[in-house]
Amino acid sequence: MQLRLVTMEEGKEPTINSIRITNQSRGSPMRLLGFMLLFIGIGVSFSIINMFKIRYLGIQNIVPGAHTLIQSCFHEPRSLQDWIKPPLTYMHTLDDSELLWRASYVPQIKEYPFKRSPKIAFMFLTRGPLPLSPLWERFFKGNEEFYTIYVHTTPSYRANFSTSSVFYRKQIPSQVVEWGMMSMCDAERRLIANALLDISNEWFVLLSEACIPLQNFRTVYRYISRSKFSFMGAFDEPGPYGRGRYDDKMLPEVHIDQWRKGSQWFEANRKLAVDIIKDNTYYHKFERFCKPDCYVDEHYFPTMLTIQSPHLLANRTLTYVDWSRGGAHPATFGKDDITKEFIKKIQQGGI
Ligand SMILES: *[C@@H]1O[C@H](CO)[C@@H](O)[C@H](O)[C@H]1NC(C)=O
Ligand SMILES: *[C@@H]1O[C@H](CO)[C@@H](O)[C@H](O)[C@H]1NC(C)=O
Repeated sequence: MQLRLVTMEEGKEPTINSIRITNQSRGSPMRLLGFMLLFIGIGVSFSIINMFKIRYLGIQNIVPGAHTLIQSCFHEPRSLQDWIKPPLTYMHTLDDSELLWRASYVPQIKEYPFKRSPKIAFMFLTRGPLPLSPLWERFFKGNEEFYTIYVHTTPSYRANFSTSSVFYRKQIPSQVVEWGMMSMCDAERRLIANALLDISNEWFVLLSEACIPLQNFRTVYRYISRSKFSFMGAFDEPGPYGRGRYDDKMLPEVHIDQWRKGSQWFEANRKLAVDIIKDNTYYHKFERFCKPDCYVDEHYFPTMLTIQSPHLLANRTLTYVDWSRGGAHPATFGKDDITKEFIKKIQQGGI
């Protein structure tokens, strides 16, 4: 097992710090497959029963003898709760354009006519396994009212969490992701869009399977909920790895002095989350003109949001990645590096 550091921010303030870990160990594929089939099997039979109930049982039970849909509607008026409750399952058959369209619904009246406890959506962009899940389980425990979880994986991967786990059935319909390509941003937009379907989600945090929290939940929640800024890394870097990646074919939408770079890991509020998923202008420019050696996941959101809403950005991320060793990947730490003192130093912003 290798540990890769992804930590802390510039001093002073509490941050969600994290450590990246690459875990080589795998469970037995056959057992995993067995579990997966059971899992899907249950899901399918549930939805068939549901369809059946709605189509037939519902109507017949409510209005015996009179089989019209209109009468059944009158019979069971819908409450507001019916409209605002989150989807029962994360599984759906929407393709990306359907999903993004649906997720872009925004209420035009700002006050909620119901008690809404705003939540943080923790969105994990992963290859599959979550080797650090035990730490997250402890982090989330007791805070059920204040968070939701979404996990994007390799499409074929089926997580094997027990029903008591916070990660149980938190996988969203996923697609293949290639490092440094637009499919990475697509996956991030897919995570955001799925999370937007739940009206109680107010803040959206992108994490990887290699992240761990270094502050407790209350601290993280308080910090994020009280900030008037969203924590999107965005800086103007001269030189080959910053402005050097800009292509003036992006004009007129993106000018070189609007070009930004930032860590892939971000926190965005609901407004910015909607802005990200509804974007149809910058998307095509970045898709065409930001390909390796331009890493689109480091430039697209920071640049677009800097152009649209600079006053809402903190311009720094809450997830620290240690790039101090140079190269295309952040520093990797062996397990011997991880000591109590080391973690403390990170928490206090001393590294
Ligand atoms: C899946 O989970 C069950 C119960 O939690 C466990 O017994 C089994 O070993 C797991 N399988 C894999 C492949 O991890
Ligand atoms: C972030 O940068 C933008 C310009 O890129 C600026 O307008 C904004 O004030 C900055 N945010 C903070 C918190 O300094």
